[in-house]
Amino acid sequence: MIALLQRRLGAPLFAKRLKRQTDKTIRFLHQGKGVFRLERLIPFDSLLSAFFQFFGIREIMRRSFLDVRVVSQDWILPALPEAFEGFRLLQLTDLHCDLDPALTAVVVDLIRASPHDAAVITGDFRNGMGGDHTACLRETRHIVETLAPERWGILGNHDFLEMVPELESMGLPILLNEVTEIRRNGQSIWIGGIDDPHFYQTHDLAEVRARIPSEACSILLSHSPETYNEAAGLGFHLQLSGHTHGGQICLPGGRPVVVPCRVPRRFVVGRWSHEGMQGYTSPGTGGCGVAARWNCPPEITIHSLRSGK
Ligand SMILES: [Fe+2]
Repeated sequence: MIALLQRRLGAPLFAKRLKRQTDKTIRFLHQGKGVFRLERLIPFDSLLSAFFQFFGIREIMRRSFLDVRVVSQDWILPALPEAFEGFRLLQLTDLHCDLDPALTAVVVDLIRASPHDAAVITGDFRNGMGGDHTACLRETRHIVETLAPERWGILGNHDFLEMVPELESMGLPILLNEVTEIRRNGQSIWIGGIDDPHFYQTHDLAEVRARIPSEACSILLSHSPETYNEAAGLGFHLQLSGHTHGGQICLPGGRPVVVPCRVPRRFVVGRWSHEGMQGYTSPGTGGCGVAARWNCPPEITIHSLRSGK
């Protein structure tokens, strides 16, 4: 299985990802540089949780975390073939399934009530930054089995490569710089999925684009919006991302306090466009660190595709 993953990702990117996974684990276990590390003494997530508890708002913020909405987004894609008029692509992202198992039933119920033709999960299945991923995959399985049979995922910066065989065994093919073709009545659209561009940077957009016929309607799954410039340059039509959680805990008006990647504000959450490519950064279906949200509702997104003709 390891040899297969190595072949799929390519030897150089495979080696880069394993090294970074190891480095990440070492950092998480605080065995890296420095003796007196603040995060070693005070776990930040616990501190934040205690802060919310102290001010009596922890339960309110958890209710916001579990108050997942179904949001519709309509897209005009001129390259869309006639057979895909009105095609509904459901997006989940940043589930971080091991953070609060109560999220699973909420998401499952909403998916059941949301008709869709295909589904994608754009990374960060896991909250924990290392070690065992059994609890995460147990919750993920319940969600995946509720989705339409045509469904794909990509890995995020919280996910280890070793999760791929188990995710695929539950019927969720993971696109590791790979593509898939969706066919209807002899016509096709293509979905390309890259490996995590944020932390591991083992993505290969050019390879993915090269595997898609040049005139075909193409949708890119990229865990983080950080790829917007390169993806637009390569001619993708629509990019779907997550990772930012929209800030997760925001000021009134949804203004994020902290954004976990360096992109201009307009790419942090919601719809955007860049040099002819359209894009969407979901605020996330779950959240990470603390099961809390404020001024930033979590969502399941239904992307409806139209040609505009
Ligand atoms: Fe992420």
